[in-house]
Amino acid sequence: MEQREYTQEINITDQLMARINELVSHYPEGKKKSALIPVLHEVQDAHDNWLSVGLMNKVAEILDIKPIEVYEVVTFYTMFNEKPVGKYMLEFCQTSCCALRSGEELMDYTCEKLGVKPGETTTDGMFSVVGVECLGACGYAPMLQLGDFYHEHMTKEKIDALIEDCRQGKINLR
Ligand code: FES
Repeated sequence: MEQREYTQEINITDQLMARINELVSHYPEGKKKSALIPVLHEVQDAHDNWLSVGLMNKVAEILDIKPIEVYEVVTFYTMFNEKPVGKYMLEFCQTSCCALRSGEELMDYTCEKLGVKPGETTTDGMFSVVGVECLGACGYAPMLQLGDFYHEHMTKEKIDALIEDCRQGKINLR
């Protein structure tokens, strides 16, 4: 794994550990690894939406697996973040249907508006902009994901309104 300059406080609370144990209990004895993805979601949610190497190592320890087994999952899926991200992470679908309906242009517009490049976070820590693969809402292209919610048939005007709503704390992420 690449060494990162970012530091993260690892805080596996009793409540989080209980949730992890509950997730592991859904799988057969000796198959703790099967709970890896749901456990990573829980752990990431409890750590400002990102997973440092130290935190991935902790997950490996909890699930009795090798750290590389955690790294390979985290680095494969865009839903896991390997560095700090903004409070509002705008995930633009960049796959065919969305691309054909100006999804890339919308992401460029958003980056320019926020003063970032794809993959970057605004200096105030409010917004990150990332491009992701198909999110399965192709019929509603172009679309983006923000937290647990999809925003569909996006336009520049809708982007402006969404960013403004975020700034005013009107957007729920979960
Ligand atoms: Fe964008 Fe499928 S191509 S959601």
